[in-house]
Amino acid sequence: MKILAIETSCDETAVCVVRASGSFGRDFRFDVLGNALYSQAAVHAPYGGVFPNLAKREHARNLVPLMREALRQADMLTEPDLPETDALEEIKNILAREPELFESIAAFVVEHGKAPIDAIAVTAGPGLEPALWVGINFAKALSRLWNVPIVAVNHMEGHILLSLLTHSNIPTNIGMFDARAKFPMIALLISGGHTELVLSECFRSYRLIGETRDDAAGEAFDKVARLLDLPYPGGPEISRLAAQARAENLPAVLEFTRPMLRDESYDFSFSGLKTAVRKLVEQHAPLSDDFKKQIAREFEQTVSDVLVGKTLRAADEFNAQTIVVGGGVSANAHIRAELSRALEARGSPAKLLIPPPELATDNAIMIALAGYFSAQNGAFIDHAALKAYGGLKLEKTA
Ligand code: KG4
Ligand code: ZN
Repeated sequence: MKILAIETSCDETAVCVVRASGSFGRDFRFDVLGNALYSQAAVHAPYGGVFPNLAKREHARNLVPLMREALRQADMLTEPDLPETDALEEIKNILAREPELFESIAAFVVEHGKAPIDAIAVTAGPGLEPALWVGINFAKALSRLWNVPIVAVNHMEGHILLSLLTHSNIPTNIGMFDARAKFPMIALLISGGHTELVLSECFRSYRLIGETRDDAAGEAFDKVARLLDLPYPGGPEISRLAAQARAENLPAVLEFTRPMLRDESYDFSFSGLKTAVRKLVEQHAPLSDDFKKQIAREFEQTVSDVLVGKTLRAADEFNAQTIVVGGGVSANAHIRAELSRALEARGSPAKLLIPPPELATDNAIMIALAGYFSAQNGAFIDHAALKAYGGLKLEKTA
């Protein structure tokens, strides 16, 4: 099956084309034929976070050029076969709120005909609704244009499933499920918008066992970075300063409480930590470079201790064979190292699977992967039923 996938839930605009066959544990094969991604981070940097309407505008502007690039790589740019005027009229209605996107599709249609794909996979949530809608309306337009069915994908499932693949030969053939991917499984999903612990007892079945009650882990990194006058996205910046503090052996002059670590639930809370940093910054302004590094190190350690502590407790309780970590914050080298060290120290049988940083952040490959299994099950969605759900939860998927 050949699938074109679209991801626009946050500030990455991404389109890919994959060819997939087989099922989990049975002859699965997955080839990325074309993959194009545009990160809007620089566009949002002046705002210190993702600005939904700006994200929407950027998605609308970039989707067709990215699709063209993904199809070009896949050698799927065909000769034009002009659509009936009806189709273009309907597409104009579908894209009534994205006139710029309609114009670029209309221009594409003059140059190229239907791409030889069997299904379109698109992120339906969770994420920023104005951003999600652009991808969804784009999917509907292509579906009408090419007469191809759509599957709706939960973005968080995409992060989980992509973490389960072996990641050799990135990005063309990321091939197969890792032999260590076994159930029950605990997934720690940490990004700018989410902090969730998910229990998966069998393939594609999910139960949310904990989530953040306020800020997401990545959001906390971004907000603390802003307090320290560091650019957006803040995660890599904080991580860099923290690594300097460790390399220079700066004395430990700070200690933050580990929020919710002793709490019985698997929930998280990071807004108090941000407030603690704000108070410190106010008390000690202007901050010396060393003090910034010390704050960054203690902040990163605190977040890490909480994430690692809760994840290992969940792994023990649910007898996890595998722990997967996904989302942008999983690119954090310190958190990765702490998690694997803690697992080893505990003699835990659970195997840790974390995708390489370039696949940990948002992309369309993960949407194609989850979408493939839905398409294989025939779980196509009517245009009328396909909507953006900003707060979409993970549960058993179709
Ligand atoms: O998954 P992602 O690309 O987008 C969504 O939020 O869905 O995650 C982006 C988040 C940002 O908050 C960014 O600061 C954080 O991931 N991040 C990191 C690191 N790299 C990215 N946080 C901590 N350490 C990093 N190395
Ligand atoms: Zn994400």
